[in-house]
Amino acid sequence: MKKQRLKHRIADIVIFGGTGDLALRKLFPALYEMERTGRFDDETRIFGASRSPHSDDDFRAKLLEAGKKYIPEGEFDQKTWDKFASRVAYLQVSAGDAEGFKNLYDRLSDAPDRDRVYYFSTSPSLFADMAFNLQKAGLVTPNSRVVLEKPLGHDLESCREINGQIGEVFAEDQIFRIDHYLGKETVQNLLILRFANAMFEPLWSSAHIDHVQITVGEEVGVEGRWSYYDDAGAMRDMVQNHMLQLLCLVAMEPPYVLDQDAVRDEKVKVLKALKPINDTNIDQNTVRGQYRAGAVGGKEVPGYLEEEGANVDSTTETFVALRCEINNWRWAGVPFYLRTGKRLPKRHSEIVIQFRDVPHQMFPLAKSMTNYQANRLVLRLQPDDGIHLVLNNKNPGPGLVRLRPTALNLSFAEAFGARSPDAYERLLLDAIDGNNTLFVRRDEQDIAWQWVDAIQEAWENNHIAPKGYTSGTWGPSAAIALIERDGRTWNEEAVF
Ligand code: BG6
Repeated sequence: MKKQRLKHRIADIVIFGGTGDLALRKLFPALYEMERTGRFDDETRIFGASRSPHSDDDFRAKLLEAGKKYIPEGEFDQKTWDKFASRVAYLQVSAGDAEGFKNLYDRLSDAPDRDRVYYFSTSPSLFADMAFNLQKAGLVTPNSRVVLEKPLGHDLESCREINGQIGEVFAEDQIFRIDHYLGKETVQNLLILRFANAMFEPLWSSAHIDHVQITVGEEVGVEGRWSYYDDAGAMRDMVQNHMLQLLCLVAMEPPYVLDQDAVRDEKVKVLKALKPINDTNIDQNTVRGQYRAGAVGGKEVPGYLEEEGANVDSTTETFVALRCEINNWRWAGVPFYLRTGKRLPKRHSEIVIQFRDVPHQMFPLAKSMTNYQANRLVLRLQPDDGIHLVLNNKNPGPGLVRLRPTALNLSFAEAFGARSPDAYERLLLDAIDGNNTLFVRRDEQDIAWQWVDAIQEAWENNHIAPKGYTSGTWGPSAAIALIERDGRTWNEEAVF
């Protein structure tokens, strides 16, 4: 095995939307972390760009204020911050303002061959203007890359339009469509678990797996982003990207090598094999929900329609549950149940691989247990990332030999003694290095939209409005019925 040496990157990084929420909360703290861990060469420069006027010092002060809030505890260090701040500058520029891009050119032209990363963390309606203006100003060099934040469009058509425009300026391998779930440690660990351990792969098919569950639950509501969210809903905000990416990583065939095309080719095959959900099967396979007032974590919270800025007639879903099927040899007959929602009882995301039961069970269940459980592998994404493998054991004691399901637990924090890096740290580094394995390819995104558009259309054609659910519960009761109709249950009662 090769040992990797720490690489000191020389790059010019420009964050458009530099004063926005994502930049302050995630991107600059991630860049600071790279500073702290010595990833940058002294020559690396970072620019925040946005419409509002700020001096460099004002901007740095703004970053510092946010940094103190969002940099993980114990990792803020004034000396490192000063070094970081000294490479940061501000540039006032709006997407359609060619003049501002000329200024950017003046700032960067002394190093024309340097790796450049333009991060578009703005509304996607500005992406095309920014790309064309970068080009006009002579800022798009062979070593330039563009990172596109989601949502990329609203449906297949709008996504194609944006991709078409960006594609006039940047080649596909210069385009980095971000899905921050792919930067999460546990998500990447799924690749290792599957493809670096010989024990699971032989079991990884309909022959041994009964079904798969993917849950991404959030405690938070729309967090002051009502109008963005109302336009998207849980389907476009979470399913089209994060949930389908997780499904692909669970279901894909082993790529022959860990590179951008090999991995993404395999994901595309999974997306193509997803059975369409449309007018003919929408009722049996989907549940839409919208949160009502309730209590989450002991705190009273308003309903979706009472949030600040809400339109009281909104029929946008804040919860989705789906029953999906993958029509290929490996997975035919294995349902994948997906659910995601806001204002659920807790922040809790996991992938559950439920194995089939033994052909003949000889042992009774321990009296203290209410539920029998066949082997189950739980990949916990957040919080407390880790892996749990539920095995059946003998209930201790004399007398009748009885079963007691118990979990083998691997907590990453305990095992590795380090915090998991934020997804953006990993993805920004990859973008600087020009490695887009963990970014979404254009065809992949198109197919995901196509599948999601069919569901949206069927909801509309069949007048399927979201069902209300009380904040602090696991969504509408129909979501429980969706899985229980098949004789299965959601993994809520963890055995560990
Ligand atoms: C974003 C969505 O992509 O992911 C948000 O737009 C959501 O609505 C967030 O809250 C969840 O990300 P994480 O990393 O907190 O699970």
